[in-house]
Amino acid sequence: MVLTPEQQAILEGSQGPYLATCMRWLVEWGDVMGARRLIRVDNTHALLPVPNQMARGARRETIERYVEGLREACRHRTAPGCYCTLHVNFVTLDDITLKENDPEQVGMQREIADMAAAAGFIPTFTCAPYLVGNVPLKGEICAWTESSAVVYANSILGARTTRHGNESSIAASLLGLAPEFGVLLDENRKGTLRVDVAADLTSPTDWGALGYVAGKAAGLGIPVFNGVRRPSQAEAKQLCAALATSGGVTMCHIAGVTPEAPTLEAAFHGDVPAPSLTFTNETLREAYQSLRQRTGDDIDSVILGCPHASIREIAEIAALLRGKRVAQPVRLWIDTARGTKGGADAMGYTKIIEDAGGCILCDTCPTNLRIPARRIVTSGFKQAHYARGMVGAEVIVARLEACIRAALAGRWMGDE
Ligand code: F3S
Repeated sequence: MVLTPEQQAILEGSQGPYLATCMRWLVEWGDVMGARRLIRVDNTHALLPVPNQMARGARRETIERYVEGLREACRHRTAPGCYCTLHVNFVTLDDITLKENDPEQVGMQREIADMAAAAGFIPTFTCAPYLVGNVPLKGEICAWTESSAVVYANSILGARTTRHGNESSIAASLLGLAPEFGVLLDENRKGTLRVDVAADLTSPTDWGALGYVAGKAAGLGIPVFNGVRRPSQAEAKQLCAALATSGGVTMCHIAGVTPEAPTLEAAFHGDVPAPSLTFTNETLREAYQSLRQRTGDDIDSVILGCPHASIREIAEIAALLRGKRVAQPVRLWIDTARGTKGGADAMGYTKIIEDAGGCILCDTCPTNLRIPARRIVTSGFKQAHYARGMVGAEVIVARLEACIRAALAGRWMGDE
């Protein structure tokens, strides 16, 4: 990779050892990925989570060393002009009675949150930054973590970001630079797999099913959806999350919706292939079945808001719960950003949900928090996929209304 004299000087320590390390992270990554230069980024979504190993007996010195690395990052200002938000943590900063929300870890995370805010990061602690103000414009170069948000930024907003990890997102935030490769370049945004959609998609979770099937088929490629209507924001969110769950998708095109793909021809840069996959009502049904492994019908958890819920989704959930009670001992979690919950508090939705026995969870999600659960009903294909591995629970993926029915009954009641 060719560096400018200023970038080379930073690499050699002109701005201190930590920024030299950040520059090295970007240069080494760029070299491996075939980048030829670093380019300016105006927008980052970074990760500064305290590891959730404390309660599991990890050595204190190991955690301390890692947290000291986070403190060191926060002792530097974010790059001038760069809009920097933060991804979720492994704990919530709220006071909740849950042994997984380890108080020592929460204390450390609060310290990092304060330091990060002072450094210029906006402590959104969300996997859906585009719902709480970080909405890059078409063509804006970003450096985002969180695979679902990366797909959303590239495909729905028309912004440009590769998938970043902890180190690269911190380095990009502090230096305002990222290696130029992958979907940052026009030629790498060409569709690779045509998916014709013949199914009736009637809910956000149906769009998650589409993403889950297409992601598996696309792998690291770029699926192009043909013949599908314009999704709602919630539907697009589910599609993007699922694409990055079953596959390593960084972006997709929805012909007629993705800003740079007004037509199928544009999505494939003029080279339209025959469909590789036709998503039918039967494929839709099979996708649901693939994430419905259960040995019984009683449930203990319902998880909504993966990726984090918008205010509109919270309003819908509140409307379904108004005046009702979640069955004991079911725990109903609605994951969202603290910024969105502030709105829900002010608009009365939080009270309706809490009166019904639900809990709005900020800064994290039950999977990241590793809440113990035996059988989960969820409206998110991503949540269903990861809950099996990370929490070891049985899962049932279902549309929102069926999830709420299960929460109220304490058992899986079927789709209708
Ligand atoms: Fe967000 Fe957790 Fe889902 S971080 S995308 S709610 S698994």
